[in-house]
Amino acid sequence: MAANQKSGNSLYHPSEGVKMRARIKEYDKLYQESITNREDFWAKEAEELFWYQKWNKVLDDSNKPFYKWFTGGKTNVVANAIDRHLDSETKNKLALIWEGEPGDVRTFSYFALNREISKFANVLKAMGAKKGDIVTIYMPQIPEIIIAMLACAKIGAAHSVIYGGFSVEALAERIADAHSSILITADGGFRRGKPTNLKTIADEAMRRSPTIDVCITVKRTGKECFMENDRDYWWHDLMGMPIASAKCETEQTDAEDPLFILYTSGTTGKPKGLIHTHGGYSVYASSTFKYVFDIQPDDRWWCAADPGWITGHSYIVYGPLINGATILLYEGAPNHPYPNRWWQMIEKYGVNIFYTSPTAIRGLMRYGASWADKHDLSSLRLLGSVGEPINPEAWLWYYEVIGKNNCPIMDTWWQTETGGFMITPLPITPLKPGSATKPFFGNEISVVDESGKAVKHGTEGNLVIKNPWPGMARTILGDPDRFIEKYWKLYEKQGWYLTGDSAKIDEDGYVWIIGRNDDVLKVSGYRLGSAEIESALVSHPAVTEAAAIGLPDKLKGNIIHATVILKDGFSESDELANELKMHVDGEIGPIARPAFVVFADSLPKTRSGKIMRRVLKARALGQEEGDLSTLEE
Ligand code: WT7
Repeated sequence: MAANQKSGNSLYHPSEGVKMRARIKEYDKLYQESITNREDFWAKEAEELFWYQKWNKVLDDSNKPFYKWFTGGKTNVVANAIDRHLDSETKNKLALIWEGEPGDVRTFSYFALNREISKFANVLKAMGAKKGDIVTIYMPQIPEIIIAMLACAKIGAAHSVIYGGFSVEALAERIADAHSSILITADGGFRRGKPTNLKTIADEAMRRSPTIDVCITVKRTGKECFMENDRDYWWHDLMGMPIASAKCETEQTDAEDPLFILYTSGTTGKPKGLIHTHGGYSVYASSTFKYVFDIQPDDRWWCAADPGWITGHSYIVYGPLINGATILLYEGAPNHPYPNRWWQMIEKYGVNIFYTSPTAIRGLMRYGASWADKHDLSSLRLLGSVGEPINPEAWLWYYEVIGKNNCPIMDTWWQTETGGFMITPLPITPLKPGSATKPFFGNEISVVDESGKAVKHGTEGNLVIKNPWPGMARTILGDPDRFIEKYWKLYEKQGWYLTGDSAKIDEDGYVWIIGRNDDVLKVSGYRLGSAEIESALVSHPAVTEAAAIGLPDKLKGNIIHATVILKDGFSESDELANELKMHVDGEIGPIARPAFVVFADSLPKTRSGKIMRRVLKARALGQEEGDLSTLEE
C-alpha cells in the first residue's frame, strides 16, 4: 500500500497482494446492483446460509418501520454457526483459541464447542429455560460466555448479555426490563492481575431485581463467593450431571424470532433493549464479515472487543463462526503485564486480521513503537477499527507500526442498532485516514439538514440511512413507540433511519463521521447516556440535581464532566466530589465514572426546563457561552 502524500486527504491504496486475495474486486458496479435490486442481493446472500425452510418473502415492509426479513423462513443461528460445520472439514478446525490474563490457554474445535454448547443447552432446559425466554448473561471474557450465548440461541431463548464492566444498578435495571428468570455469571475474571467480583455485584443486582430464580456461576477466579440455596448453582456441577447430555437438537426458529436483546444507552435514563433476530441478523453479520474482513479458511481472526457489546456479538461470535473462522478471545487488559501483551498474542497465534478501537490504539501508542517492534507481526493482512472516529495520528501509527505499511485499515462505522457494518471500506478500497469511506452493499446513506435536504459536500449534517437492511434492530423491547420516536420520527415522511451521528461527505463520496449529535457520549468507545450518569448521581443522598456532559479528551475521545447541585445540609468538598465519582462507578461501572465533578447552585436551563448542555460545555472549556436567548432567567 502506498501513500501519495501524508496530508489529510491523501489516498492509501491497498497492495496488489491484498487486492488479489480479496473476494470483491470492484465496488462501484456491485454496489449499484445491490441498491437497484436490494432484495435480490440479500436473497443471494441468504442462500449461502442453511435454512430448515426457505423464506417466502425477502422483505416485508407492510408495517413500517417494523420491517421484517425472510419471513416464512426457518433457521437458527446455531445451525449456521455450529451445526453445519460438523458435516464439513471445519469440524476439527479450531473455533476458539482463548487465553486468560494469567496466561492459561484453552482451545475448542468446532466439534468440541458443539459438545459444550449442547450440554449447556440441556442444562438450561433442565433449569426451566424455554423458547421465548430472555436469559441474562453477565460474565467476564471466558469461553463460557460464548458457550452460554450459543446455548441460549440453540434452544430458541434470547440472550441479554450485560457487559461485565457494568455494575449493580446497570445490571439490575436490565434484568428487570427483560423479566429474566435465569442469570449466568462467574465468580469473576482477571483484570490487571486482580480478580473482579462479578458474583458480588450479581448478588446485589438480584436483590434489587428479584425476578431471577436460577443463577448459574462459572468458577473462574476461585474467589470465595456467596451461594444461595435453591437459587445459585455452579456451572461445573450442573455440567457434570446427567442433565447435561451432549445430545441436543437445535430449535428451528422463525427468521424473525429474537436471537438476542442488547441494551444500549440513549438520550433518556432508561437503557434501550434492542431486539435482533435469527434470520436477518445472521445474514447481515455473516455477509458483512465475509466481505469486509475477507475471511479465508486458514485465517486467524481476532476482534479484541468484549463479547458483551454488539461488536463482540456480531464479530467475535456470530459473523466469524457462521463463516467457520478461528477466533481468538483474550480475557484481560492490553497492557498487562506489559504493553506488548496484544502484540505478543498476534505473534504467538499468527493472527491475520485484527480489529480493535481507536481508544485502545491511542492507549498503546502512548508506550511507543518499541513494544510492537519486539514482535513479528508479519502474519497480519488486514486491520480494523470501530467505536469512534479514528484520528489520523492514531490511524497512521496503527498503519505504520502495527500494519508495517502493508495492511489496509477497515474503519467500520455502525451501531448496536444496525447489527453490522453500515459504512466501511473493503480490502480493495483506497483509504483516507479518519474516513469510514463508503456504504456497505444494499445501503444508501445521506447527510441531511433538519428538513431532510442533503447538505453540500464537506458540510456537517445528520447522517441518515435511507433503506431497510437485514441486520437492523426490529424494535425496542417493550417500547415500540420509543423505537419510532428515536429513529424514525424526524424523517418520517421520507422513511429514513436517523443514526444520531453527525457526519460530512466529501467530494469523492467519502464519509467522515464527526460524532454523536444527541445526548449520547462515547467514552473510550463505550456508549453512555448523559441521563444515565445523571440518574446515578441523583441516587446519591447528597445530590438533588445533576448534569453530565462529555469533554474532548486526547486518549478517551470524551471524558465525563458532571455538574451537581447539593441538597440542603450538604456542603461542597473534594471528598464529596470523589465519593460521587465512586458512587457512579458502583451504580453503572468504572466506564461511567466522571473525570470531574463540580458543584453549582443552579443549572443553565431553557424556559421549557431542558438543561443547556452546550452552555455547560462552553463553561467547562472556558469558551464563549454563545446564544443565551433561550436561557431561563
Ligand atoms: C456509535 C454507536 C458498532 C460497534 C461499536 C459501537 C460511533 C462506531 C464508528 C466509526 C466513527 C463510530 C458512532 C455510532 N462509531 N463506529 N468507525 N467511526 N464513529 O456501537 O456502542 O452502539 O455506538 O459509535 O457515534 O453512533 P455503539
